[in-house]
Amino acid sequence: MTQPAPPPTPGGSPLVATALTKVYGTDQATTHALAGVSLTIHPGESLAIMGPSGSGKTTLLHCLAGILTPTSGTVAWRGEDVATLSETRRTVLRRQDFGFVFQSGQLLPELPAVENAALPLMLAGTTRAEATAVAARWLAHLGLAGMEQRRPGELSGGQAQRVAIARALVGSPGVVFADEPTGALDQSTGAEVLDVLTHATRASGAALVVVTHDAGVARHCSRTVTMRDGRISGEFRADPTRSASPTDQGAVR
Ligand SMILES: Nc1ncnc2c1ncn2[C@@H]1O[C@H](COP(=O)(O)OP(=O)(O)OP(=O)(O)O)[C@@H](O)[C@H]1O
Ligand SMILES: [Mg+2]
Repeated sequence: MTQPAPPPTPGGSPLVATALTKVYGTDQATTHALAGVSLTIHPGESLAIMGPSGSGKTTLLHCLAGILTPTSGTVAWRGEDVATLSETRRTVLRRQDFGFVFQSGQLLPELPAVENAALPLMLAGTTRAEATAVAARWLAHLGLAGMEQRRPGELSGGQAQRVAIARALVGSPGVVFADEPTGALDQSTGAEVLDVLTHATRASGAALVVVTHDAGVARHCSRTVTMRDGRISGEFRADPTRSASPTDQGAVR
């Protein structure tokens, strides 16, 4: 008897990491930061990566995003092994297919919020007028209407992270990577920003991979993996019967 075909996944192909290892250092002093990690990130899913300091979370994120080349193993995106692409192709990939949100300090201090958010589009050749129009829509969607002309120094930490989230999403990436995006914020602002990040990413149709120390993150993500000593030590999924938030509906473009 033939098995029924699996349901189609939205928005294309998954990001597939297979048997990733990463060894830092020289012969005298080596660190096995990743010791064989295999992980598939499906379109539209949100994945939290948790684990103690030094367990390899950032290293894994950077390998997945093509920022670091793994020592062995592969990362496949849209049928291509990211590690074997030329540096030029990888730069284009990071700019066009992936979005990034880091802990803090990633906005250019001299640019107003709307231009910070519009930057990836402008780098990709979109006209300034069009790029800032798209960025302004994202800023409004993230609760920053009226703050478009403020510079990062004139925003609170939480507001600045929302600008960073807008910047990660303006280019309609396939995957958004976030490394402790709330690490520099107090707990309630952090929870708010995480909520915005997960819902806005879902609204855009992108997958989200977020490294966090916040145990409450599982509430916001569809899946959580835990890491220990460079390996995945556990995995759990959020309750699929959980109702979607109203902000899950409708893309912003
Ligand atoms: N550039 C590097 N050179 C040498 N060792 C490194 C380098 N980057 C990370 N490491 C080591 O690799 C291991 C994993 O580091 P990684 O930054 O991935 O951990 P992490 O889980 O993100 O930790 P944290 O929660 O503190 O951010 C650690 O032992 C770390 O010291
Ligand atoms: Mg880290």
